[in-house]
Amino acid sequence: MISTSIIFRNGKNMETTFKTHWENLYTGKTEQEYSWFQPYPHTSIEFIEYFKLPKNARIIDIGGGDSHLVDALLQMGYTDLTVLDISAAAIEKAKQRLGDQALQVKWIVSDVNEFEPAAGQYDFWHDRAAFHFLTTEALVQHYVDIAQRAIRPGGYFVLGTFSPIGPKKCSGLDIRQYSRAAMHAVFAPFFRRIRCKEEAHVTPFQTTQHFLFCSFRRRRERLPLPII
Ligand SMILES: C[S@@+](CC[C@H](N)C(=O)[O-])C[C@H]1O[C@@H](n2cnc3c(N)ncnc32)[C@H](O)[C@@H]1O
Repeated sequence: MISTSIIFRNGKNMETTFKTHWENLYTGKTEQEYSWFQPYPHTSIEFIEYFKLPKNARIIDIGGGDSHLVDALLQMGYTDLTVLDISAAAIEKAKQRLGDQALQVKWIVSDVNEFEPAAGQYDFWHDRAAFHFLTTEALVQHYVDIAQRAIRPGGYFVLGTFSPIGPKKCSGLDIRQYSRAAMHAVFAPFFRRIRCKEEAHVTPFQTTQHFLFCSFRRRRERLPLPII
């Protein structure tokens, strides 16, 4: 089993795990104190509208944290929603915010790299700023393998990461920036790229973070040749 539950040295040179990092971060802060906070996830919703997903589409938000994407999707009438996050505290915050509506959502506390979905379980997989924390080739390839298994052939995938002109760290952790070509190279064996969009995210502190979002469609067959 590959997981990101590994020990690293934090800014104070103390040993911690990624899970502890995120649990601490989501405890005792308001959403306005997170750089990634957005009151409404315009770009993600734009992709979902573009694909004209049916209201019963099986949708999962990977590393959803306490993002408002799930609120927006409930508001739009989507009925089969799952949010996965490594942090129980983040999920609890989202549940508290949604109140009774939280009962309409499946919540999973897990490291994405320990997630074992059934084959073809989802019609739409969304990830904004979780995948980019995977900084080793082994973790990246493990994620690709989980995503390609979980998304049904013909299903959709939207990925948002920091772009080559974006920050090099997120929440104090190292990340990998992606260009269109780099994202394509990682996912091309299993996914056909559809369209990409750059977004200049304005943080609650009025700074700008450059994101790249690309959408993909799960191929019916894996490409036989490696993509160079
Ligand atoms: C920068 S925040 C983005 C949150 C949300 N996607 C949004 O756009 O508001 C990254 C999120 O990914 C989660 N995360 C980080 N590494 C993860 C992993 N290996 N597995 C699952 N979730 C992870 C964190 O707990 C956090 O909620």
